[in-house]
Amino acid sequence: MRKAVIQRRFPWALATLLTSPLALGVDIEAGRTQYADVCAACHGAQGQGQGIFPALTGHSAEAVRDSLNAYRAGQIRGPDSPIMHRVTSPLNDAQVANLAAFIARIDEFQDTTPAPSAVHPAPSTAPAAHVPPVKREGNPAAGGSTFQQVCIRCHGKQGEGRPPMFPRLAGLKPEAVQQALQLYRTHTARGNYSGMMFPIAGTLSDQDIANLGAYVATLGGS
Ligand code: HEC
Ligand code: HEC
Repeated sequence: MRKAVIQRRFPWALATLLTSPLALGVDIEAGRTQYADVCAACHGAQGQGQGIFPALTGHSAEAVRDSLNAYRAGQIRGPDSPIMHRVTSPLNDAQVANLAAFIARIDEFQDTTPAPSAVHPAPSTAPAAHVPPVKREGNPAAGGSTFQQVCIRCHGKQGEGRPPMFPRLAGLKPEAVQQALQLYRTHTARGNYSGMMFPIAGTLSDQDIANLGAYVATLGGS
């Protein structure tokens, strides 16, 4: 058998083949599109990172894949892992492989421009889109626990915000919080950085949204 001979004479060759992007049917172009849609808003168009968002450059595909799988499994790897738990929970194995293959070679794609809707949507002058309220009784305690886990790293412990990027939430009415989260959940841009909120809001149920609205309302206005 030709394969057996190769395996005996070049044991590394088979291993390389098995883990190479080709062997796994990895689609770098799909990874690139998904990166632009979902990841670039936080990690930057070239994976350069910014603020609390680490740079993703200089890692092998395997290392990136292992990180993403660790987040999918709910592991804590740094102070902001709950953000990545939200972001990675909807990903499947193929998407993880595609993203990892793309990120490992992100330097070769100097023109990776994030989807315009993800990062710099044209500020809308139209009246705010209206979405029907979630019509659920919000539980502030449950909302508070999600808030402490996921939201404070960007919006601050008391929802005080960190201008110019992260808006203040304290003082918002429950309906305003709900409406914003519902719009982000459907990838509707509201400001320049809506792309950061899309993957987070995408993991929230109607009940989560009602709870968060009720909790934020307890944070007070001043
Ligand atoms: C909403 C902002 C946000 C989005 C969107 C986002 N990330 Fe992250 N990412 C973070 C933060 C914050 C961390 C640091 C998490 C920690 O402390 O463990 C991180 C960490 C990572 C790490 C680990 C880096 C390291 O040095 O260990 C990888 C890999 C990663 N993200 C990949 C991705 C990919 C791929 C996507 C798109 C599917 C993505 N991220 C989308 C915020 C984001
Ligand atoms: C990775 C950082 C990050 C995290 C984590 C995050 N947000 Fe945001 N949030 C933003 C940014 C940036 C904006 C501004 C988006 C824009 O330009 O439309 C925003 C906007 C909002 C708004 C709209 C505020 C307004 O006045 O229009 C609400 C409401 C909100 N976030 C709630 C939350 C809640 C609730 C959580 C936790 C479940 C959360 N955010 C987690 C970054 C974050």
